[in-house]
Amino acid sequence: MSKAPKQPIAGFSKLSKVGKIKWIVENFFRDPENVMKELTGYWHHNEDQQKVLDGFSENTISNFLLPYGVAPNVMINGQYYCVPMVIEESSVVAAASSAAKFWMDRGGFQARVISMIKKGQVHFIWNGPHQKLIDLFPALKLALYEDVKIHTANMEQRGGGITRIELLSMPEVEQGYYQLDVDLETCDSMGANFINTVLESFAQTLIRLIETDPAFTPVERQIQVIMSILSNYTPDCLVRAEVICPIADLGTFADGLTAEEFADKFALAVRIARHDPYRATTHNKGIFNGIDAVVIATGNDFRAVEACGHAYAARDGQYRSLSDCEMKDGVFRFWLDIPLSLGTVGGLTTLHPMAKRSLELLGEPTARELMEIVASVGLAQNFAALRSLVTTGIQQGHMKMHLMNILVNMDASEPEKDLVQVHFSDKVVTYQGVREYLEKIRTQPATFAVKP
Ligand code: MEV
Repeated sequence: MSKAPKQPIAGFSKLSKVGKIKWIVENFFRDPENVMKELTGYWHHNEDQQKVLDGFSENTISNFLLPYGVAPNVMINGQYYCVPMVIEESSVVAAASSAAKFWMDRGGFQARVISMIKKGQVHFIWNGPHQKLIDLFPALKLALYEDVKIHTANMEQRGGGITRIELLSMPEVEQGYYQLDVDLETCDSMGANFINTVLESFAQTLIRLIETDPAFTPVERQIQVIMSILSNYTPDCLVRAEVICPIADLGTFADGLTAEEFADKFALAVRIARHDPYRATTHNKGIFNGIDAVVIATGNDFRAVEACGHAYAARDGQYRSLSDCEMKDGVFRFWLDIPLSLGTVGGLTTLHPMAKRSLELLGEPTARELMEIVASVGLAQNFAALRSLVTTGIQQGHMKMHLMNILVNMDASEPEKDLVQVHFSDKVVTYQGVREYLEKIRTQPATFAVKP
């Protein structure tokens, strides 16, 4: 039976870290002493580093480890990258590496940033005559730029800043509902803090101008700012990654599939994902296997990237595949257009010790270069998944990689692991199959020459 405290706890956040763990292990676990040891066992051996990690969040009691792997030899725009990937799914890094190797021999990935504009909005209600607000807008715009200067000066020096401010009226949402719709460039930073600071300054200026405009009646001087926040939908912060080669150069595939047959099947698989949202979701999930892994490894916000990517996938009203494929004049072309709002300076990218190392491993890329790298890995992942799906099926490779997890789960010893791996090297791995074979080894140790 599971334990659970009878009463809620007051002042949990004020407890020391050990105090928090003590309360948790005593109230939720059957073996408090061991769980205490386990949770503290994941603390960083370096106290200063642990303090840095604790500073990222609230109520931290331990660290949650994920594997940090690399895909070497990813050739993008003629340059080789060794790409860091943080992911727990066993076949993802292997798949990215294998696709990278495949395309390395065919010119690698070509990637280019199409635009780098981000967006923020001030949402407000004002119930005066619409034309009066339109008339105020030129002066309002000047005041907005003027008042925000202390926050934008630095960014402007780096080549970024506010690029456009529009006033949008949407009475269909609510009577008197408007938006200040703002475009910004944030150079090498993801820019969330910068954008939100700008927007909150805009809200103050807007309130001041409306409340003090002598042309407005007392009723018209009433304004309600609902909220000021960046939009994580950044369709104009867009990158394209693509691979291209003569169809004949695709080689041959499992079961004697020719290059032409493979290309046809592959292109049809992409077409299905462009039309069927059920398939598109899984197809795009495969793309995000690669994207998220690099986004996390470099300390970027994978929730923002995912939310934006899926909104973009549904931009014409139907959720579709983010990648596309074309075969024309004997040439195979496969590409991915994806909005990626990423940073290589500021935030976690500079604070997280491993994120810093990831960026160093990638040669200290600019945000632009990181967008190109991340999109290429997403495309590599998508290529690897589709190549497996239209040839051998996904389980063969996946279960091979998963075999180790199954063995750990079954408490297999090192000699047992070796024997099982050899046995399944030319067989389809299934959970049941592994369990039965392991049982055989354990009940007949003499036959397998395993020391008990
Ligand atoms: C598994 O994590 C991802 C795939 O399902 C993607 C796909 O089906 O394209 C293999």
